[in-house]
Amino acid sequence: MRLILLGAPGAGKGTQAQFICERFGIPQISTGDMLRAAVKEGSELGIKVKEIMTTGGLVSDDIIIALVKERISQPDCANGFLFDGFPRTLPQADAMKDAGVKIDHVLEIAVDDEEIVKRLAGRRVHPGSGRVYHVEYNPPKEMGKDDVTGEALIQREDDQESTVRNRLSVYHDQTAPLVDYYQQWAKEDADVAPVYHRVEGVGSVDDITRQVIEALEG
Ligand code: AP5
Ligand code: ZN
Repeated sequence: MRLILLGAPGAGKGTQAQFICERFGIPQISTGDMLRAAVKEGSELGIKVKEIMTTGGLVSDDIIIALVKERISQPDCANGFLFDGFPRTLPQADAMKDAGVKIDHVLEIAVDDEEIVKRLAGRRVHPGSGRVYHVEYNPPKEMGKDDVTGEALIQREDDQESTVRNRLSVYHDQTAPLVDYYQQWAKEDADVAPVYHRVEGVGSVDDITRQVIEALEG
């Protein structure tokens, strides 16, 4: 299965990706996680993207498209993959279409902006694996520690409220048009276009997982 998870920052893409990938046995391709790993390593790519990520802007399409094309050519992507946080602009979506990368499903997780600000203020992440928690809504078994490794959780640098507001505005300007793009494509060319699903992203994590699985398997 090849799948795109579409949604605003904090909509729950990373949270739901964990369940979906396990269920369907496919790798999670999170461009955000890949870029954060590069920043942490201090690689050439990391140095290039650090500042733009800290302020909540988008990394250039050329860099992202090259990164994703290389990633999906790896053997573990042969049976499918889940895109989390990609595509995020019309040129990124077109690049996949032009390269003939057939996507089966686009799944939008819809959450409004005020809920997102609350979620991101309480988010904690395990930097090694990308696993996500929330201090109140989705707490780890032991406060401040990853459930699997027991390692310390951190707060993402771009989760400060002013940066979150900027990320939301970038989302509405540059990424939200993809909702129309995929819906329109599904109408015009149902044979090749991905099937479009929309799930309301407000409710318990388990509830949303159920709706997501139902949409994909139904
Ligand atoms: P990226 O890492 O992709 O960040 P994002 O899209 O802003 O998404 P988030 O990871 O913030 O949110 P999420 O939807 O995964 O939510 P989560 O599950 O964690 O990108 C970061 C940066 O990298 C970008 O700003 C950009 O600079 C760059 N970048 C990445 N991809 C790019 C691209 N393609 N092009 C250009 N630049 C790119 O959940 C959030 C919180 O809510 C957690 O605390 C979670 O526990 C909690 N939560 C989840 N579900 C629920 C629920 N149902 N109820 C209550 N709380 C919940
Ligand atoms: Zn994420």
